[in-house]
Amino acid sequence: MNKYDGTPLELTDFSVETDVFRRDVVAGLRNRAKSLPSKYLYDKRGSELFDAICEARDYYPTRTEIGIMKRSAPEMARAIGPGAVVIEYGSGSSLKTPLLLEPLEKPAAYVPVDISREHLVEAAERISERFQDLPIMPVCADFTRPFDLPEALNAKAPRTAFFPGSTIGNFTPSQAQTLLRNMYDETNGGSVLLGVDLKKDVDVLERAYDDSEGVTAEFNINLLEHINRELDADFDLDAFEHRAVFNEELSRVEMHLVSKKRQVVTIGDETFSFEPDETIHTENSHKYTPEKFAELAKPAGWRVAKIWTDEKNYFSIQLLVADK
Ligand SMILES: C[S@@+](CC[C@H](N)C(=O)[O-])C[C@H]1O[C@@H](n2cnc3c(N)ncnc32)[C@H](O)[C@@H]1O
Repeated sequence: MNKYDGTPLELTDFSVETDVFRRDVVAGLRNRAKSLPSKYLYDKRGSELFDAICEARDYYPTRTEIGIMKRSAPEMARAIGPGAVVIEYGSGSSLKTPLLLEPLEKPAAYVPVDISREHLVEAAERISERFQDLPIMPVCADFTRPFDLPEALNAKAPRTAFFPGSTIGNFTPSQAQTLLRNMYDETNGGSVLLGVDLKKDVDVLERAYDDSEGVTAEFNINLLEHINRELDADFDLDAFEHRAVFNEELSRVEMHLVSKKRQVVTIGDETFSFEPDETIHTENSHKYTPEKFAELAKPAGWRVAKIWTDEKNYFSIQLLVADK
């Protein structure tokens, strides 16, 4: 039992090791079209900047998803049922979590999973202060790789995966399918409640990922600072700029870092050359129609049981149940 008493929560720690970070970065920058995995956007500063993005005027997903939850969380909680273990993937600041935990009937435990360790621990502590009788079991892990859930978890309790923030959109459809399949296994075919961003006007989309306050640009550039700090690299942060474009064919907003000039960057003892205007592809954010998303979820074992949206049909929260 957590019974909040001010002592630190027990963290299950599978933090990404520096060698793995280095290997991923070097492999991405050796590609003909340079790319970096978006998960590395989230060091402590990156997580703070993501929180600031959520507050940006042009970034509609967070306030839209919160609006849907405020309206319909009691219905979502009833659909999930009593006694559930809630495993939140990419929990970040656990901003939306209380909206689900409040109306849930006797949740058995809350397991926030995130790659950004300090931010995860701080968020888990805030949740544990607020839900003092709920066992809180934070796990620092890269959820794209297999990881063990805490041993203390009741094996018999029904499990639901909570995956808000349209983080599913950061994966290609085939990666998303693998992730949903893993969630099927990790929840024993329980349920998933997840935020899926919907297709809409290109202007609205591009503005959301290149906000007028410049926060998303700072978030993207911070990835280079993360690499400089942890991997002994010398990216000149002023020599790259942020770009966000909608790729119609693949129905996704792509974020890139664009080299402003010809330059050479060193990471440890490796060097990488950049041409003027050459880009590093740093993040995707796929946008779905409800039909396309249902098609994607089915081979992973899931059926869409219910969809909640907003008045503009900008965003959806979907409940997936085992497709038996
Ligand atoms: C788009 S943010 C969403 C945050 C929060 N769920 C929300 O709705 O506001 C993505 C979150 O997932 C985490 N994340 C991204 N890739 C991850 C990975 N491969 N493994 C674990 N956490 C990851 C990030 O650290 C970040 O907190």
